[in-house]
Amino acid sequence: MINPIFSSWNLRNKRVFVRADLNVPLSDGKIRNDFRLTSILPTIDYILKKQGSIVLATHIGRPSGQEPELSTQLLVPWFKQQGYTIQFVQDINTIAMMEIVPQHILLLENLRFFPGEQNGDIVFAKELARTAQYYINDAFGTIHEHGCSTTLLPYEFSEHRRSIGLLMEKELQAFDTLTENPAHPFLAILGGGKVKDKIPLVSSLLHKVDTVALYPAICFSFLKALGKPVGKSLVDDTILDTCKKIILEAEFANVSYLFPVDYQAGYNTINSSLSIISADNFPDNAIGISVGPQTVELISKEINHAKTVFLNCAMGFSEYPTTQQSTQDIIEAMAQSSAKTIIAGGDSVDIALRTEHYQNITHLSTGGGAALAYLNNKLLPGLIPFEET
Ligand code: 3PG
Repeated sequence: MINPIFSSWNLRNKRVFVRADLNVPLSDGKIRNDFRLTSILPTIDYILKKQGSIVLATHIGRPSGQEPELSTQLLVPWFKQQGYTIQFVQDINTIAMMEIVPQHILLLENLRFFPGEQNGDIVFAKELARTAQYYINDAFGTIHEHGCSTTLLPYEFSEHRRSIGLLMEKELQAFDTLTENPAHPFLAILGGGKVKDKIPLVSSLLHKVDTVALYPAICFSFLKALGKPVGKSLVDDTILDTCKKIILEAEFANVSYLFPVDYQAGYNTINSSLSIISADNFPDNAIGISVGPQTVELISKEINHAKTVFLNCAMGFSEYPTTQQSTQDIIEAMAQSSAKTIIAGGDSVDIALRTEHYQNITHLSTGGGAALAYLNNKLLPGLIPFEET
């Protein structure tokens, strides 16, 4: 377990660079839920209470270059509404010359607008480092990825001046309880987008869980690899061999895997009218979007038997609320169960927050792919700078 060391820092009139994951879900440029924003507040409040000043940095989305609708400027009104003094800064190089104002936040432009963030550019790391005297990584959602601000920048600060934040600590603790001694039966429910990123991580769960449910869109690459019909559903043809290998590993590890027995499907396009189809009779032109009622009923029974349930599975599209109803029903079953329940991923949490009893979920995580990666291997790029030597 990595401990935050920043409680020993004297932050009066000092600037702290806080790398956060404020990659909030957006609809028409509006923040759909502020979960990732409220989650970072304990770290921010701690620094401000100690009379420190913050350089707050995040990515939003996956922009190719500068996409104005993904500017971090859209976060400013939210912080102001919560009573924070915050200023948006586009030109990083001006910060070193600015006076340090205690209890003040400088919000950097979307880090992914700068080519150096994803190119691993040391010059960019040095530019960022000049803005602050201390560094905190509180971006749990990115610990599995390489990025200048998370994997190079920490080394620009001495070991005693870099730390993980309070959110990161809370997340790591929650997942450590899953890996160290989870109560069995342990059920994992996996689906949703970012298929290419997530499939290789499915095998990470096989030595921990008793049952894995594979749902849209992840399931279609597995089903195609097994020679089953999937119509025009989303498949990543480049990883079919990986899928076959994972199925064999699951069988070898005695892990049961569940596929949907019915689907909510569209025809030719995802916004065509939807119908429920049986998994045994998948039309050539159908696109599986979510699971159908029979699958929801079956997984609800599994949830009731389980002692631990992990879900990273945002099926459907936020623009079409009916496509997200099955996910919502599955999450409600989790909320009503007595199992230890963990939900990971921005979109999964977005749906969870719409369920009636979401407060009963044991842990809502700000990470998705990060959570899967951490369950697999704790030595992740974003955490290595904080490992004790
Ligand atoms: C997430 O939303 O999972 C994190 O912010 C990471 O985003 P990315 O998958 O676009 O790197």
